[in-house]
Amino acid sequence: TQADPEIRKGLAGVVVDTTAISKVNPETNSLLYRGYPVQELAARCSFEEVAHLLWHGELPTAAELADLERAERAQRALAPNVRAVVDALPTTAHPMDVVRTAVSVIGADDPTTADASRAANLAKAVRLFAQLPAVVAYDQRRRHGQELVAPRDDLDYAANFLWMTFGEVPDAVVVDAFRVSLILYAEHSFNASTFTARVITSTLSDLYSAVVGAIGALKGPLHGGANEAVMHVFDEIGSADEAEAWLERALAEKRKIMGFGHRVYKNGDSRVPTMKAALDKLVAHYDRPDLAALYDALERAMVARKNIQPNLDYPSGPAYHLMGFDTATFTPLFVASRVTGWTAHVMEQLEANALIRPLSAYVGPAERHMEEPATA
Ligand code: SDX
Repeated sequence: TQADPEIRKGLAGVVVDTTAISKVNPETNSLLYRGYPVQELAARCSFEEVAHLLWHGELPTAAELADLERAERAQRALAPNVRAVVDALPTTAHPMDVVRTAVSVIGADDPTTADASRAANLAKAVRLFAQLPAVVAYDQRRRHGQELVAPRDDLDYAANFLWMTFGEVPDAVVVDAFRVSLILYAEHSFNASTFTARVITSTLSDLYSAVVGAIGALKGPLHGGANEAVMHVFDEIGSADEAEAWLERALAEKRKIMGFGHRVYKNGDSRVPTMKAALDKLVAHYDRPDLAALYDALERAMVARKNIQPNLDYPSGPAYHLMGFDTATFTPLFVASRVTGWTAHVMEQLEANALIRPLSAYVGPAERHMEEPATA
């Protein structure tokens, strides 16, 4: 049975709706958040300012930024009931499962969950924005038998996230690289996890359910899970001079090389140069030319062999490794950033909602009936 030629597997190339939040342009290899090139935002803004931009469509005034910073700092501490549920999970649980579970608890505990007004959804978005760093930081620390570190409200979002994770504020070059990664990861139009959030929202389910679904989608190695997988690839290869042989073997096994390729960008991911520049600063700061050599060797081999360019996960993985995050923590960092884009899309979906329900072409057995039951 021939499948219908109209089928667009994976919805590749299918435009299903409009959005005013971001523009991914493969022709010009560019990415705009509400019209601003992401490179400009990464060079000049705090992550708090970009979060406001995504939610509200404009960069914040000084007063609006102060309001957001106050609201975020007031909700940074890990809520006791969230901590209790995280503590009930084994330390061997995948950090993406821990984060997904924590969002479920935050939602189950929020009396405004069913209120889909913009004001209520904005408050939920800020709550998740503020709480996710505490969850991600605590989960990494408990895996190492370390105590919870309480947030500091004299630090901005990026510095406090690092403080809660490591119990110290690292050098400015590290904080800045982390801030850049958060801005670059924040939003990317209808990627799989964002579209998942929109599908869930389109049934008029709640924002927390949409974020839990989005986390489930982001976990996969073809999507957000790739940044964790990149580090495993580096560990497998070992050193730069092993890269080419490793790639030959991997391609012979028909493996997807993590951190390379993209559904939309076909001449490289617009965010990579900015993240690579941040990685280069970390390589210098931590004196790790060996890691830089391995990064370059695999990229060179992959471009030469398959003409496939790196995506954002490729520089982000080693950058997070140098910052001291566990490899398994990398995708939860992506969650903490992308929750801003996901929640912006939840609110946009509700503005002009239509239930998302595509068709399928049936290729199962033709209609048939059970045998008549034998008469007694
Ligand atoms: C993210 O959508 C977004 O915007 C996502 C994201 C965001 O910000 O939200 O940008 C974040 O998810 C980035 C992508 C992270 N994923 C990975 O790094 C995993 C490895 N990448 C591949 O699995 C792949 O490139 C995808 C999934 C990202 C995109 O795949 P497509 O568009 O579905 O293309 P494809 O898999 O059909 O590949 C086309 C061809 C295939 O060859 P053939 O089978 O036709 O001979 O290119 C090959 C693929 O085998 N190919 C790869 C490859 N990527 C494509 N071969 C080896 N390694 C790869 N990485």
